[in-house]
Amino acid sequence: MTVNAVFWGFFGTAMLMVFHSEADHRLPALKNLSYTWVDPFTLNLSWSWDKPKHLPDSCTINYEIHYPDKSEVRQVRTPNHHYEISFLTEQLESNEGNFSIHALTELLAESCAGWKKSESENISIGTQKPIVEVVKDFKCSIASSQTNCSWEPVSPSVDLKISYRICGIREENSLKKCHQFYRDGIRTGCLLQNDGQENNICVLAENAAGLQTFQAKRVIPLPKLNIRKDEDYLNLEWTSPDIGKACQLKYVVCYSECNRDKGCLEYRSVLNTLKHGPLPILYNKNCRYEFKFNATLEKYCPTIPSDGIAVECYGNNTDSIQPSDGTLTVVAIVIPVILSVGVILSCYCFRRHRAILCPTMPDPSTIFKEMMNGNKEQKTISESLYTPVPEPIEPITITPVSENSIFQQKS
Ligand SMILES: *[C@@H]1O[C@H](CO)[C@@H](O)[C@H](O)[C@H]1NC(C)=O
Ligand SMILES: *[C@@H]1O[C@H](CO)[C@@H](O)[C@H](O)[C@H]1NC(C)=O
Ligand SMILES: *[C@@H]1O[C@H](CO)[C@@H](O)[C@H](O)[C@H]1NC(C)=O
Ligand SMILES: *[C@@H]1O[C@H](CO)[C@@H](O)[C@H](O)[C@H]1NC(C)=O
Ligand SMILES: *[C@@H]1O[C@H](CO)[C@@H](O)[C@H](O)[C@H]1NC(C)=O
Ligand SMILES: *[C@@H]1O[C@H](CO)[C@@H](O)[C@H](O)[C@H]1NC(C)=O
Ligand SMILES: *[C@@H]1O[C@H](CO)[C@@H](O)[C@H](O)[C@H]1NC(C)=O
Repeated sequence: MTVNAVFWGFFGTAMLMVFHSEADHRLPALKNLSYTWVDPFTLNLSWSWDKPKHLPDSCTINYEIHYPDKSEVRQVRTPNHHYEISFLTEQLESNEGNFSIHALTELLAESCAGWKKSESENISIGTQKPIVEVVKDFKCSIASSQTNCSWEPVSPSVDLKISYRICGIREENSLKKCHQFYRDGIRTGCLLQNDGQENNICVLAENAAGLQTFQAKRVIPLPKLNIRKDEDYLNLEWTSPDIGKACQLKYVVCYSECNRDKGCLEYRSVLNTLKHGPLPILYNKNCRYEFKFNATLEKYCPTIPSDGIAVECYGNNTDSIQPSDGTLTVVAIVIPVILSVGVILSCYCFRRHRAILCPTMPDPSTIFKEMMNGNKEQKTISESLYTPVPEPIEPITITPVSENSIFQQKS
């Protein structure tokens, strides 16, 4: 080992130590973390931060915010000291009015080498009113010129208020009130100004107990399925809802014939055409047909499902010719059961003639033995085929009656 090598080895170690001590620097935590609600769907987070004196100016700092979104944690970054987040109460997993956002500084540039991200700061966000479930199953039907929304109120209250706006953009997009309230069974509904189906609608539902914010679920109303019989076919026809745009609808028709599943057919609507069909189905007049169908808006438009599934039936099962699967199962199970019960019962009732009605099965091992010893064949076969059974007779016992006992009976 030369002196030179020793020198370089020592120098290298010293360099490493310098680098190491720099890596121990942790960026200071954020200060004065606070928030304001810009509107019911928008949170404005702000904070301050003191730059360490020896941090190079060329090192740019970013702040990272983590916040809940259902079961996930979303993360955003900003170089600013405030950040606007669209936040809906439905993003919280439970109805807890508590969640935390933490901000961290992150190193991106080379000049920041040796600086570690800061501790995270947490903040609990509260809404102006407690978070409660005000409405259930809120959905908006987007046909024609009106957006028709309906929901199930959680506690039927008169003070329910529904307001909405397009999600995301805030500029020239103030909160609007729902109008033309109506009641339809347990559901309540109202009409929204049509904002076009390409926009998501954010809804604020409020009552005296609290509030709830969420994105409205959009559905397309299902048209009525017309079934027209034509010789050997059933022709399915329907009119698409007027979506008012060049959207394509995919219909799925699943059907059964005489309670037997016949699978599904897919049908894509022709652009700018409202009348659809005929979709021919080979018809057996002895069968009842059940059609289940739904639709999904797709292609050139956001994917929107239909409002549930519609069911339409046609024809009757002619039972004598076409027993349903259910009847066949009953026949296949019940008849053998009845037969075996009958056999067992008759064996029991006629046990005097048991040997004839229910012969005892010959022991297979004896038969095998017989085959081996041919000379004993005659005897063993007669034994195994018929064994006279003694008739069941009550045994009679005669006991001598003593004089003593007679005396006792008389007294
Ligand atoms: C930030 O917090 C510090 C105390 O941590 C306080 O002295 C200062 O006034 C606050 N600044 C602002 C702008 O609120
Ligand atoms: C958000 O907060 C920051 C800092 O308090 C403020 O400068 C900004 O204008 C706020 N933004 C909105 C939309 O209120
Ligand atoms: C919200 O947070 C506070 C403080 O951390 C805690 O005392 C309270 O129990 C929390 N509330 C709920 C509903 O979790
Ligand atoms: C904030 O929360 C994070 C993760 O939950 C935790 O690691 C961190 O210690 C918390 N910060 C403070 C200052 O409590
Ligand atoms: C809105 O939907 C309800 C229930 O489906 C219906 O009774 C009502 O007529 C619809 N209103 C308009 C304007 O389409
Ligand atoms: C429509 O029905 C098919 C078959 O039953 C099903 O796979 C599909 O998920 C349904 N679509 C909607 C939007 O309900
Ligand atoms: C099915 O039976 C009902 C009454 O039982 C009858 O009104 C109807 O016309 C029948 N449908 C067909 C297609 O035969």
